[in-house]
Amino acid sequence: MPPATNSLFRRKTVESILAHPPADAEGHGGGGLARHLTVRDLTGLGIAAIIGAGIFSTIGQASLNGGPAVSLLFVFTAIACAFSALCYAQFAATIPVSGSAYTYAYTSFGELAAWIIGWALIMEYAVGNIVVAISWSDYFTGLLDGVGLALPRWLTMGTQSAYSGYQAVLAVMQAGGNLQASTTPAQLAGYQAWTSAPELFDGFRLVVDLPAFGITVLITALVYVGIKESKNASNLLVALKLAVVAIVIAVGVFYIKPANWTPFAPNGIGGVLKGVSAVFFAYIGFDAISTTAEECKNPQRDLPKAMMYALIICTVLYVLITLVLTGMVSYKELGVGDPLSFVFAKVGLPKFSGLVAVSAVFAMASVLLVFQLGQPRIWLTMSRDGLLPPVFARIHPRFHTPSFSTIVTGLFVGVPALFLNMDLVVDLTSIGTLFAFALVCGGILILDPYGQSGARFTVPYLNGRWLVPAILVVSALLLWQYDRGTLVKLLEDVDGTTAARTHEGYYAVFRHQIPYLVFILAALAIAVVTFRKKLSLLPVLGLLTNLYLMTQLGINNWTMFFIWLLIGLGIYFTYGHKHSKLNAK
Ligand code: ALA
Repeated sequence: MPPATNSLFRRKTVESILAHPPADAEGHGGGGLARHLTVRDLTGLGIAAIIGAGIFSTIGQASLNGGPAVSLLFVFTAIACAFSALCYAQFAATIPVSGSAYTYAYTSFGELAAWIIGWALIMEYAVGNIVVAISWSDYFTGLLDGVGLALPRWLTMGTQSAYSGYQAVLAVMQAGGNLQASTTPAQLAGYQAWTSAPELFDGFRLVVDLPAFGITVLITALVYVGIKESKNASNLLVALKLAVVAIVIAVGVFYIKPANWTPFAPNGIGGVLKGVSAVFFAYIGFDAISTTAEECKNPQRDLPKAMMYALIICTVLYVLITLVLTGMVSYKELGVGDPLSFVFAKVGLPKFSGLVAVSAVFAMASVLLVFQLGQPRIWLTMSRDGLLPPVFARIHPRFHTPSFSTIVTGLFVGVPALFLNMDLVVDLTSIGTLFAFALVCGGILILDPYGQSGARFTVPYLNGRWLVPAILVVSALLLWQYDRGTLVKLLEDVDGTTAARTHEGYYAVFRHQIPYLVFILAALAIAVVTFRKKLSLLPVLGLLTNLYLMTQLGINNWTMFFIWLLIGLGIYFTYGHKHSKLNAK
């Protein structure tokens, strides 16, 4: 291999990472981070990151598409996450430093892949937090309305949402249609915001989501001041959140009408799988605690435990909540932004509904907290490696937190949250995160394919030789049996359009199936390698399930994801590749 290509795959060794305790890249600033976190704190941080906008908001749309069977999607997704969590845990036990999947990739795949994964993690943490901030603002604005303190509409939503609502309503008005029947409440709110907003120039108006920006600034300030304070705030919020979720389940159970559970999967597997992005979003976060490895008292022992505890607790709660929601009202009514409070208003418990809405505001604030905590620590690590400018590794002399990176993260999340529309960012977060998870599972297969590394936690080794091909065959048979309908429906869609049976029509169908077709080839290749090399079963299954979930996210998301990666590669080749600390060696 020529040297230039070699340098893209240069790796850090685990020994070299552990031998050089973290220092400020600028050589000053008062040393490393403070070690405060225990297994309870870490499980708390995990739950703080996991339970949030996903279960309070996006579960509504997923239930509308998939019906009560979305509860099974929660189980399937949890299994996929558990495979990844085991791999994360092994990495965290082997390399207990801040960088999470980014550092892990540096030791297994080399520098270029590490940069790419770091870049994908920005998508998970920062772009994910934009989603949470926007959805926090929706609940908060609703609460303010409820107590008669409403903000002007043009200060409560993103420019993009308001403008598209305005255009949709305008089109209905111009066509002389019925506004009530032909528009959604969100579109009407957008129209109202746009038309009441101050005009900046040429008909362009000032509409911004001020609460989304405000909460981001507040949380960033908390994270800036220190990990200890953040931990206390987070533990408190988690206790409150768990209590409310438990009460929702306990009260909701008494309002279930079993008839609402039939049909269980009204739109087939295809309908259930439409919820992949939302359901996966609801689990994102258990991995975020691995970014605090330098602040744990005993990372090797505590991180793996905490990740699994958090995942198990949340899965049980999610499945129960989905069954309760879809049992209380018909799935057809759940396409709302605040399903948890909505169902209680619907069964005649308005006060309870208000209580749930208040708790959602706290729940989502704690998700923001963990991700605002995680993101700067990844930048810090990338900067220590020379892939980002040294200022990103600066540590505050008094607060012992990554000061500059924390402020940049705040701006990176807060400013787009002023303008952007939520749907756009939710899929992007899921696809970026699934990609990072797939690489982490792949990383374990490269570093320790037979579970023999001797790390204080290793993924249990089971020989995948026969099991992986067998599982693939059974899954293919099951999909053929139960999901043929999706393919048939796609072909019918082509027949139903004017492009029927034309090259364009079939190409449109084909285009959307490209990720899926590539997955089938990749799965076959992975099965062959596993068979020949007797690879460890669990990481292979993690890799396959994450890739499969990615194929369900649609070609448009893949396109945006690739554009994001190209921008990242541009930065790497103009800065990181030249300044990498590994250059000197
Ligand atoms: N899992 C987190 C949430 O649901 C990202 O908000």
